[in-house]
Amino acid sequence: MQEVIITGANSGLGWATAKHLLQQGYAVTLACRNPAKAEAAKQKLETQTGSKNISYRQLDLASLKSMRDFVERTNGAPYGLICNAGIQYSQPTQYTKDGFELTFGVNVLGHFLLTNLLLSKFRTLERIAVVSSAAHDPNTGGGRFGHPAFTTPELLAHVHDNPKADWNKLGNTRYVTSKLCALFFTYKLNLLLRSNNRSNVLVNAFNPGLLAGTGLGKNSAPFTKFIWYYILPAMAKFFKGSSTPDKSGLLLSKLITSVNESGKYFSLGAAAVASSAESYDTNEMETFWQGCEVLVGLGENEKWYK
Ligand SMILES: NC(=O)c1ccc[n+]([C@@H]2O[C@H](COP(=O)([O-])OP(=O)(O)OC[C@H]3O[C@@H](n4cnc5c(N)ncnc54)[C@H](OP(=O)(O)O)[C@@H]3O)[C@@H](O)[C@H]2O)c1
Repeated sequence: MQEVIITGANSGLGWATAKHLLQQGYAVTLACRNPAKAEAAKQKLETQTGSKNISYRQLDLASLKSMRDFVERTNGAPYGLICNAGIQYSQPTQYTKDGFELTFGVNVLGHFLLTNLLLSKFRTLERIAVVSSAAHDPNTGGGRFGHPAFTTPELLAHVHDNPKADWNKLGNTRYVTSKLCALFFTYKLNLLLRSNNRSNVLVNAFNPGLLAGTGLGKNSAPFTKFIWYYILPAMAKFFKGSSTPDKSGLLLSKLITSVNESGKYFSLGAAAVASSAESYDTNEMETFWQGCEVLVGLGENEKWYK
């Protein structure tokens, strides 16, 4: 039975994707930071699917050591990886255990290290999906979050804030920048796979649409939080590009089970679409990859590519 590892699978999109994969006969590993939430998610999955092929391993994307421990404890032959976990927050800057700005550390650097370590250890890993967002593109509905502000991984990780910053605005900028980076990651990873005899591995990015009411809103400012949990769920159906964790979870599961393409962006549909113009900027992509390598300390023996 083929196993798929899903980060942040205890709630929202990740949980729904796990459910659909189990229903399609796959085994899933819940890679979550909170053991109690993971156990509750596992029990609910067992009840709803009847599957016993669910395991849990602790993973905190805000700790480089946790990623290394996770991969060390991964045995068997994982077939799929879904880089789903993500955060957005609007408070004064927070940091990962390694001192990186939290949004960039969790959404980007954590998945960068995890994916490369897994590719380095397992030739069985053949399907990778990376969750991005329409918010990465100011021209396609993501405009309300503002523009991404990619500079270099070093500058995004080690920030120097004005204490009087508008945290709400800064939080949005950091979030959309992290979702642009998810595309740099997908596209560059695809090129490396193709040029290093790993063409059997397919990697694609995914926009799940607006999933109002998920845990993503839990670190927002009070007013935004109120809208996210109490107003938007009732109104979401009127918004273009809105979906539900269940519908998008099914689409995301198909990127593991049915896709035949690689290096593409899927946005709430079965056919690949174009992402923002900036996401194809090869100079920025190169800066992104090289900067991330340094920040996560990817060793020469851990690089599966030349
Ligand atoms: N909701 C939307 O409208 C929307 C739109 C576009 C894209 N997305 C993307 O979809 C993905 C899933 O989001 P969601 O809406 O389903 O929100 P969610 O329910 O909050 O799911 C996010 C998951 O990430 C986990 N997580 C956060 N920090 C982590 C860490 N340090 N280590 C490991 N896991 C961590 C959370 O765990 P805890 O429960 O322990 O916090 C949770 O399981 C995210 O990448 C998000 O950016 C969402």
